[in-house]
Amino acid sequence: MENIILKTTADGSHTLFVPELNEHYHSTNGALQESQLVFIENGLHYLPECLKEINVLEVGFGTGLNALLTVLEAKKQKQKINYVAIEPRPVDPVLAASLNYASVIGGTEAAGYFKKLHASAWSHPEFLSDYFILSKIEARLEDISLKDNQFHLVYFDAFGPDVQPELWTQEIFTILFNCLKPEGVLVTYSCKGTVKRALMAAGFTIEKLPGPAGKREVLRAMKGRV
Ligand SMILES: C[S@@+](CC[C@H](N)C(=O)[O-])C[C@H]1O[C@@H](n2cnc3c(N)ncnc32)[C@H](O)[C@@H]1O
Repeated sequence: MENIILKTTADGSHTLFVPELNEHYHSTNGALQESQLVFIENGLHYLPECLKEINVLEVGFGTGLNALLTVLEAKKQKQKINYVAIEPRPVDPVLAASLNYASVIGGTEAAGYFKKLHASAWSHPEFLSDYFILSKIEARLEDISLKDNQFHLVYFDAFGPDVQPELWTQEIFTILFNCLKPEGVLVTYSCKGTVKRALMAAGFTIEKLPGPAGKREVLRAMKGRV
């Protein structure tokens, strides 16, 4: 993608704008706030505390913001996380280095982890800490095969259903349903009617949750729980 533009969102954290899609990577009302609520609070924190090892799949690694928040949580919660991130178009390393997530989050560790997230190989797993193993896959979700019953949690963070409708379908959600463990969870920021219907048709039970600033509702989809 050409001409990606760095922008600052309402909470001071950066996002990227893609002119050819007229789409941002995050909510302009606050990228950090959105990721923290939709993926960490609604997803990671929803999993049972007793799980000491968690397999997470992220659809759309992008800026690495969700991965950064997750690596920090893994250490805080002393939970080992195996994080698989799919991304067909990695962000240019120079652009990634200019993203301000580490300074907005603060603390001593975020900057080091953020660099490692982007410097990690796309071909094999890398140990970022005692609690976090990262496997980045440079491919489209549609082109890879995922084993059944593998993940506890899916962060579904593709571009929106209006610009990338081919990813928000019953067919794609069935693949994700199958790759989840029996009580697995998928979280996403879109609560569009077509998205809810496609998730339910794939077998998920869905729950609408309050959204971050500027968005009324977001979604959690569960494989086995009601
Ligand atoms: C809304 S952005 C979010 C990215 C990331 N989670 C973040 O916080 O920066 C969507 C991401 O999905 C990626 N993407 C686009 N098509 C995809 C596909 N077919 N499979 C997986 N990821 C895709 C884009 O390149 C982009 O990085």
